[in-house]
Amino acid sequence: MPYCDEDIIEVIITQQQIAARIAQLAQQITADYRGKQLVLVGALTGSFVFLSDLMRQLDRPCEVNFLDASSYGNGTVSSGEVAITQDLNLSLAGKDVLVVEDIVDSGRTVSELVRLLQAHQPVSVKVCTLIDKPARREIPVELSYIGFVIPDQFVVGYGLDYAQHFRNLPFVAVLDEDAVVPKPEINE
Ligand code: IMP
Ligand code: MG
Repeated sequence: MPYCDEDIIEVIITQQQIAARIAQLAQQITADYRGKQLVLVGALTGSFVFLSDLMRQLDRPCEVNFLDASSYGNGTVSSGEVAITQDLNLSLAGKDVLVVEDIVDSGRTVSELVRLLQAHQPVSVKVCTLIDKPARREIPVELSYIGFVIPDQFVVGYGLDYAQHFRNLPFVAVLDEDAVVPKPEINE
């Protein structure tokens, strides 16, 4: 694969598996939200890749908005304190909200997002996540749509980052412990 040395990554979910699963999720969401005013709310930054593929498979109208809810933390562990640095810029009154997440780990980020969104008084708030890592759950959260369940591993790619890198990998992979953030290429 492209710039990423095969020695440092192990692909655990392929591009083809992601596409096939998104088609199934989209079919289910299309059916479940018939007759409703659907708003997809993406949690920045990680969810933008998944959200953009998912919404293009939905056979129904929808609005799209983003919230930046960064959880403070050091490295690969989330502290659970969620700071909203970009809020919604549309009304949710009378609408059905589907939060789109890249991954649910401790559950703190998504449960805080759901709580904040409920304050906007939508008809409903549900969650769709590409990846669920239930082994590390601290806060119980109801996940209505789950792409893949994985064990307790730190993964990158398809929107998920390590130190803001690797989001552009088209698959989901586990990084080798020795992996470092890629350096700029040197023109020879
Ligand atoms: P939670 O609040 O512990 O559920 O963490 C959720 C957030 O932590 C996700 O939205 C990601 O931004 C980040 N995160 C958790 N696990 C991973 C991972 O394996 N790879 C990359 N980011 C992760
Ligand atoms: Mg996130």
